[in-house]
Amino acid sequence: MTDTFRAYLLREDADRKVTGAFEDVPVTDLPDGDVTVRVAYTTVNYKDGMVMNGIGRLVRTYPHVPGVDFSGTVEASSNPSFTPGDEVVLTGWRVGEVRWGGCGTLARVPGEWLVKLPEGLTLVRSMALGTAGFTAGLAVDTLEAAGITPERGEVLVTGASGGVGSVAVALLAAKGYTVVASTGRSETHVYLKELGAASIIDRAELSEQPKRPLAGERFQAAIDNVGGSTLANLLTQVAYNGAVAAVGLTGGNEVTTTVLPFLLRGVSLLGIDSVMCPSERRERVWKAIANTLPMAKLDAISHTHAFEELPDLGRSILKGTVQGRAIVTVGGD
Ligand SMILES: NC(=O)c1ccc[n+]([C@@H]2O[C@H](COP(=O)([O-])OP(=O)(O)OC[C@H]3O[C@@H](n4cnc5c(N)ncnc54)[C@H](OP(=O)(O)O)[C@@H]3O)[C@@H](O)[C@H]2O)c1
Repeated sequence: MTDTFRAYLLREDADRKVTGAFEDVPVTDLPDGDVTVRVAYTTVNYKDGMVMNGIGRLVRTYPHVPGVDFSGTVEASSNPSFTPGDEVVLTGWRVGEVRWGGCGTLARVPGEWLVKLPEGLTLVRSMALGTAGFTAGLAVDTLEAAGITPERGEVLVTGASGGVGSVAVALLAAKGYTVVASTGRSETHVYLKELGAASIIDRAELSEQPKRPLAGERFQAAIDNVGGSTLANLLTQVAYNGAVAAVGLTGGNEVTTTVLPFLLRGVSLLGIDSVMCPSERRERVWKAIANTLPMAKLDAISHTHAFEELPDLGRSILKGTVQGRAIVTVGGD
């Protein structure tokens, strides 16, 4: 191992302004952990944009290496479960927020947080998925554990053209579900159909606070990336014994609903947390995604960028101008 590694390092000045620069950082500055990974790829999530631009005070100590997700090869390990050369992926655990993340050619973490790359996935494709793809897999797994099946009717995905939504549409379609994609962007209709959506509705159809506590039973289940009045609205339209996976809050974090969908229709509202999800379940869900998702579809939603483009991508994602999943080559394969 060399004495230094290349990283995008964030520093905070006396006025609490956060700025980033590519630097050669001493390996001895890496955080504690029993596995050191040579990072091949990272990806840019909305949270990364916030961290890189000092928004939301997610980072407590500087200098800081961002990067919520990374994939790479084990360089050194004192953890019996990992040996040098193992290909691994990391999402969540607050890496890239409260501890150094994947925007450096080396990263160090506790081995329990790593998942061995499942058969069928490559390092680059695991970052096409990243937290967004893993979360979509977790949502599908949660709904199926609640009893949904392709035969029971339509499954709604809101915020469908976003990262979680796109993978959710493709995964559900690949499993034989009839997917209704809700989007606010008409230019994504062809893209969503190609991912496997059977039909598309405008997000405005669901965005208003519902006027009645129950409406017609339209969907057997939903993966909701929007929250707020959209979640309140769709809950009134879920069929008897249906289930809703609450994933996101792009439309707001307050939900005003009645208990009637739960009491009269047995609807389940199921929370999804990808960050602290236990390791065993992570491994199972990553394998399920690798076995189910058509890789051509994953390739269609992702685009790869050079490490130097990272700061621009961090700004673009906050403006909502990054389409699909942005992969960043840190060290490469
Ligand atoms: N629970 C977890 O563990 C977890 C993990 C990852 C992400 N998340 C959350 O899940 C959500 C989706 O994440 P993502 O990575 O897919 O984000 P994303 O790529 O930014 O996509 C979000 C999508 O939401 C829709 N949207 C945006 N603003 C909206 C608004 N004001 N009203 C209604 N819809 C709106 C858009 O879809 P259309 O253009 O198609 O309408 C957008 O593409 C976020 O809230 C994120 O914080 C949660």
